[in-house]
Amino acid sequence: MERDEAGFLERCAELRKLAFSFSEPLIVHHYDADGVSAGAIVAGAFQDEGKPFRRECIKKLDDEAIERCLREPEVIFVDLGGGNRRVNELKDALIIDHHQTEGIGKPQANPLLFGIDGGNELSAAGAAYCVFRKRPDLAIVGAVGDMMHPMAGMNRWVLSEGEKSGEVKSEVDLAFYGRYCRPLVQFLAYCDDPYIPGISYREDRAQELLAELRIPLEWVGGGAQKRMRAYADLDDEEKKKLVSALAKIMANSERARGADGLIGESYVFPKRPRDETYEANEFSTLLNACGRHDKPDIGVRVCLGDDSARDEARQLLALHRRMLREGIAFASKGTQDFGAFFFLDARGAIDEGIIGVVCGMELRQSWKKPIVGIALGGRGTIKVSARAPKALVSRGLNLGALMKDACADAGGIGGGHRIAAGASVPAGSLNAFLVRAGAHLRAQNEANEAMQKSG
Ligand code: C5P
Repeated sequence: MERDEAGFLERCAELRKLAFSFSEPLIVHHYDADGVSAGAIVAGAFQDEGKPFRRECIKKLDDEAIERCLREPEVIFVDLGGGNRRVNELKDALIIDHHQTEGIGKPQANPLLFGIDGGNELSAAGAAYCVFRKRPDLAIVGAVGDMMHPMAGMNRWVLSEGEKSGEVKSEVDLAFYGRYCRPLVQFLAYCDDPYIPGISYREDRAQELLAELRIPLEWVGGGAQKRMRAYADLDDEEKKKLVSALAKIMANSERARGADGLIGESYVFPKRPRDETYEANEFSTLLNACGRHDKPDIGVRVCLGDDSARDEARQLLALHRRMLREGIAFASKGTQDFGAFFFLDARGAIDEGIIGVVCGMELRQSWKKPIVGIALGGRGTIKVSARAPKALVSRGLNLGALMKDACADAGGIGGGHRIAAGASVPAGSLNAFLVRAGAHLRAQNEANEAMQKSG
């Protein structure tokens, strides 16, 4: 399909008009970081216009959710809807989505319909920004939450819009997670992308390195106030010392990919407070913590600048971190090689809300196959999450198609992106699902290999 950015933006403008013509729509959005930031962009646009709306966050658009929506006169689907043909049964509905879509008869702002890659270069929050042209910072948070880092293609345009309005700034600095809020020792020790030989996963060694460099770990203010320092608190001299020490370690190690991966682009939001909402990666983790622990409304309130939601969001973040640490510990021992894919059976061990995040963290970019994880879902169902290495996706692997197809015999519901997808299947059909997933993957691999050879 030919790429048509102008056509997409025209469609977005039509959808804005249509959305504001609704009298009191129900905004139904997804619960991950992209879904929450996209939902906040849409809700915020209605708030700014003084127009009434209701908002609901859901984990999946299954039959039960569709039945509820059928009772609504007006629905705006955000970060979902494009993958479920039952939306055609609704009265007035419109869709802002970036997932793979087919056979939808309702008005839809979806970059994939205009030859723009919804998996790599525009998230649902990005599409919501294109519709309402408000809060570009949230569009960047959604993109980062959906692993679209660094910004490319249409996301680059969103970024430039945010830079023009002063809501977004891009920075080139150490490419580690947590520059603004993580205490220095954890900042170094829990960085594994890039992997720092001798330091990653070693708090003691991280602490030693900082001591050798004479970089104090604590900030002491007036009245003996104390707090742990983050990387952003370091002065230029300290930053320089730390970066060159890390570059030296990387350059001297065979295991590291060289010092290149140390520095990268990241995005900050000058109009937001200097807390977990200041930097895109940290903000998206905060939203994931809210959404994936059943408190998406707290995330939406934080997105819309409601200070009274911040403390609860931070508590959820602490819980999220603890559960991820435990999840990763389980995954690193429990992941099995199933031939076509790695398999993580985390039923009863990892919560369904974070199984996808754990699979993403467990996935090694050097892996030659994807990972499929399962957790207990509600009401006798199993939640499936799949993640693939980028290299495989660029050779044609499509997990969204895989999940949809594997659900066919299992009576489940699934979909998503090429690189990250999921499904929900009845517990009794798990075997059928896995067998079909394996066969589908092998067929995809063969077809992709044949394409590579002929191309
Ligand atoms: O839940 P998880 O993080 O694994 O989801 C990965 C992607 O797959 C998300 O973008 C989600 O929207 C999509 N998905 C889907 N249908 C499902 C489960 C997940 O389209 N039943």
